[in-house]
Amino acid sequence: MDVRSAASAPKQEIRLEDYKAPVFTIDKIDLTFRLHDDHAEVEARSLFKMHGDAGGALQLDGGPFMDLLALEIDGQPVPADQFVKSADFLQIRAVPKTFELGIITKVYPKQNTRLEGLYFSGGNFCTQCEAEGFRHITYFPDRPDVLTRYMVRVEADKESCPVLLSNGNPKESGDLENGRHFAVWDDPHLKPSYLFALVAGDLACQSDSFRTASGRHVELNIFVAERDLDKCDYAMQSLKRAMVWDEEEYGLEYDLDVYNIVAVSDFNMGAMENKGLNVFNTKYVLASPETATDADFDHVEGVIGHEYFHNWTGNRVTCRDWFQLSLKEGLTVFRDQEFSSDMTSRAVKRLDDVRVLRMLQYPEDAGPLAHPVRPEKYIEINNFYTTTVYNKGAEVIRMMHCIIGPEAFRKGMDLYFERHDGQAATCEDFATAMEDASGVDLKQFRLWYSQAGTPKVVVRRERDGEDLILTFEQSCGASPGQALKLPYHMPVRVGLIGPNGGDVKGEIEGDGVWSSSECVLHLRNARQSFRFRNVPEGTVPSILRGFSAPVVLDHDLSDDELAFLAVQDSDAFVRWEASQDLFSRHLVKQVETNGVGHLPELLQQVFVGHLEDKDTDPALIAELLALPSEIALGQKLDVLMPERVHVAREALAKALAGASSEKIIALYHSLTAGHGYTLDQSAKAARRLRNMLLTYIALLPDGEAIIQAHYAQADNMTDCMAALTLIAHSDFAFRDQTLADFYSKWQKNDLVIDKWFAVQAQSKRPDTVARVRALTEHEAFTFNNPNRLRSLISTYSMLNQVRFHEKSGEGYRFLGEMIAKVDEINPQTAARLVAPLGRWGRVEEPRRGFMKDALTSVLKAPNLSDDVRELVEKSLA
Ligand code: PHE
Ligand code: ZN
Repeated sequence: MDVRSAASAPKQEIRLEDYKAPVFTIDKIDLTFRLHDDHAEVEARSLFKMHGDAGGALQLDGGPFMDLLALEIDGQPVPADQFVKSADFLQIRAVPKTFELGIITKVYPKQNTRLEGLYFSGGNFCTQCEAEGFRHITYFPDRPDVLTRYMVRVEADKESCPVLLSNGNPKESGDLENGRHFAVWDDPHLKPSYLFALVAGDLACQSDSFRTASGRHVELNIFVAERDLDKCDYAMQSLKRAMVWDEEEYGLEYDLDVYNIVAVSDFNMGAMENKGLNVFNTKYVLASPETATDADFDHVEGVIGHEYFHNWTGNRVTCRDWFQLSLKEGLTVFRDQEFSSDMTSRAVKRLDDVRVLRMLQYPEDAGPLAHPVRPEKYIEINNFYTTTVYNKGAEVIRMMHCIIGPEAFRKGMDLYFERHDGQAATCEDFATAMEDASGVDLKQFRLWYSQAGTPKVVVRRERDGEDLILTFEQSCGASPGQALKLPYHMPVRVGLIGPNGGDVKGEIEGDGVWSSSECVLHLRNARQSFRFRNVPEGTVPSILRGFSAPVVLDHDLSDDELAFLAVQDSDAFVRWEASQDLFSRHLVKQVETNGVGHLPELLQQVFVGHLEDKDTDPALIAELLALPSEIALGQKLDVLMPERVHVAREALAKALAGASSEKIIALYHSLTAGHGYTLDQSAKAARRLRNMLLTYIALLPDGEAIIQAHYAQADNMTDCMAALTLIAHSDFAFRDQTLADFYSKWQKNDLVIDKWFAVQAQSKRPDTVARVRALTEHEAFTFNNPNRLRSLISTYSMLNQVRFHEKSGEGYRFLGEMIAKVDEINPQTAARLVAPLGRWGRVEEPRRGFMKDALTSVLKAPNLSDDVRELVEKSLA
């Protein structure tokens, strides 16, 4: 079947305000999958109960890529004149009050390159149904507020598909004729269709078990390709840690006899929380020291946790409609962040999360694709699995936690489950539960769900005798469809650092309460002052501790005060932020004046202070020593000047390295000695610092030899990649050979080869755009695998600011071509490539024109998907 010819009419916009509850319920659905080499037959039998009058019509969702083989009501074929079928729905003219609907469809998994619905990956059948994939398997009311009970029978060839999996508990299995066999799975929990999953194939399995607090025995399985069986340990340990954590932290236990995880190499996203049968991108399951970096291990733990936590926040309580997506995603990201904080370092994890938010979500919030955490309209829901819904959504939950406090928050969670277990709920239901449990009025706070944009907060200081007065002003610029914003309720955590470096307290006047060494100020007005009584002269305020609200803060601290906080603050976030601000201030000045300045004494002192700090976690020191990224610096400019940012930052790094070369090299070597490879927090922290130092060493005259040795001696992927990244940036004579050797060594490992592509896409060398284009012709490059596309194209366009924004416009043209090409294969993944081209408002001509031209050329592609069209049109508006 030709996928293109089946294209349907452009989708209409869907609006939150038009939500209507379904007029029927489905008591149960029995599904039978007959899997064959080149197609699958799907028989669905559902028991419908209509709530209106009998004789009304029934409309079901469907897709253009399946054939309808049979349609029956209560065992009788529905006559052809009694139903209409289009590319995306099936309507039966009149149905009885209660009836069994029987449907047989035929689908083509091997032709499915969109990777939604039933598809084929690495020799196995698998499904992806969130958000609207189930409609490509059978005709069904494919919406999250239709919950029903699933019984699934899978039949396939026994030799090619020895493993047959679906949701819930295994019920029955056995042999059939012709070398085929079957398995039946029974899921006792009601669920919406987006949580349905099926996997069939030849997979190896690592098994373990878990006993829940109340004594339920749970079998744990991770299914992977045979060759990857040695890379599942960390995922399995992470799963068990997540299960314990959710019991201890929230009193939430697992609710089935088995928990299955399957790793697939072709996947549009990170992983999927299907009930009892998580399907994962291999990237977030497989990890061994030789193939995965420390960051990869952390991501595995975080994503395993994330999908596990969805069992309660997402599955037991699901979303009423897709506008409520953040109800499950924001909350579950918050939960996985907290889990990772408890497993690793809370301070460093917070910096990592803030960095991601600023690097990805802030630009989204500031550009043409900005939307609220709870959007109000969409054309293609796949386009709303965004960093705003996920990461800003998690910040919204974090602020609630801060405003009402941890005990009330836990009570609110209990209440939320008590009220909504087994239901499809809304963000409003969640806020109400938190409000009822805490007694705190969250009416104004709810604006965080409905208003888009990153608020700006300006804070100014005043002394009044012994008192310190902090005056805050908040504002938020216009976003698409939202010209004016109301003031938010935002929690601002504040401490006071006395002249000797310790925390001091000042009796507070205004809406704020002290707890131990800090207080939470409740900002509610556009302008609001807080008076702290009896604050010693020379005290420096430490504002927005822990990044307590996702805002842009503008303060009036002097360079000396920043330097003081960078060393003295008891809050790791403010310490780091103060260092970053100090570096940024200098760099922004350099960029704006196109200056090539000296190294300011103060910056050097702060830098050396961090190098000599023996009391702080080395992982945090690594971050304190890091200069703000080119992207972070770009965000501080009114007009992005990518080359100047790059040049100024390199110059400062080089000056800092040169001024402290001996200290840097000595610290580097001290960290080398005595560190055998382990995954302990302390060993990871030492590697992080050592590899950060290596980035400075790269800028020293004798850097080349140290980097070459670092690469040669690396016995783990973290150290290997740290060196390879620098080598890829460099002009070292051994550059090309090293990249070639790495490739031939790892050719057979897709996840490692993804790193090989990414490291070249990130290179700041002037020839990068040409090399990236050439790499799309490499034997290992394929347009069919989302990980491969992301590793080359997204890394280049989203992380390599200076090389993407080539003045020639070549970077933009390249991306435009790639979007159109990928769209023919996989619209969801193509759409995820669009955003960088929409940031034309940040640059001047000729770049601006080139970016718009690239977007316009995408629109000219024949058969453009709704996914890409929606984002490109918004990006041009
Ligand atoms: N719900 C998945 C998660 O966040 C993400 C996902 C969305 C996966 C859509 C596939 C398709 O865990
Ligand atoms: Zn999720």
